[in-house]
Amino acid sequence: MSDGTLATLEKQIAELQSQLMESQKLSTVGALAASITHEFNNILTTVINYAKLGLRHKDDEQRDKAFNKILAAAQRASRITTGMLAYARNKSERRDEINLAQLVDEVLLLVEKDLEVNRVKVEVIVQGEPRAVINVGQLQQVVLNLIINARQAMKEGGRLTITVKSNREEGWAEIAVKDSGTGIPAENLKKIFERFFTTKSADSQGQGGTGLGLALCRDVIESHQGRIRVESTVGKGTTFTLKLPLVGAVAAAKPGPTPTTQKAG
Ligand SMILES: Nc1ncnc2c1ncn2[C@@H]1O[C@H](COP(=O)(O)OP(=O)(O)OP(=O)(O)O)[C@@H](O)[C@H]1O
Ligand SMILES: [Mg+2]
Repeated sequence: MSDGTLATLEKQIAELQSQLMESQKLSTVGALAASITHEFNNILTTVINYAKLGLRHKDDEQRDKAFNKILAAAQRASRITTGMLAYARNKSERRDEINLAQLVDEVLLLVEKDLEVNRVKVEVIVQGEPRAVINVGQLQQVVLNLIINARQAMKEGGRLTITVKSNREEGWAEIAVKDSGTGIPAENLKKIFERFFTTKSADSQGQGGTGLGLALCRDVIESHQGRIRVESTVGKGTTFTLKLPLVGAVAAAKPGPTPTTQKAG
């Protein structure tokens, strides 16, 4: 094969990979659409009720209270739509230094209603300054995939614990997503990162069960020189851990070699 053909093929593969990533992203947006619509209904109910209250009451104090409630509800709605649009649109290749705790917060804003509706309690633990240089959109997609998987493994509700920490000894910024769901049988553990491996069937809205989520997570993490690990016990739950190169790790963990070439005097 000529170098030219190879280059064209490589370009086509890269293009297809980015399209696949885009479709997978839209599928996560789809998975959240129902709960977000539901949340907007709740927000609108709050707005309507306080608007009525404000109209009924002529005294300033009651009106101010109504306006404040309406404002808070509208601001929440705006944060959700802004977050969702930014997530859906973000195609940039840029990498930025960010505290991973902030990334987790942004993702939770999109998914928290979905978790609440499914009776999943969420706890976030932050330790240290887990800063990393990442493509924010891609990492949001990874964390969202892990959270949606966790929720789908807790059909009767449960507990989701997200730990974000800096591991200075090993030089990683880490995010661990732990659920109290079904767990993964040993014979499946080696297959879950393969493209199209799934144990799920699509739900009534055709959502889920493509088997692309974790393959995408692995690709993104590897392109960031990171690691993705899984630990699981059937009947107890699963933990996925993402490790990304920690910003400032080298200086802190290994104080560079003492210069040997320098001579005194
Ligand atoms: N937190 C988890 N608990 C239990 N099983 C899991 C968990 N995460 C992944 N799995 C298993 O790994 C399989 C592959 O996950 P992956 O996210 O790649 O695909 P999917 O969720 O089945 O489909 P898609 O993500 O494309 O909608 C799942 O079908 C499930 O069997
Ligand atoms: Mg999935």
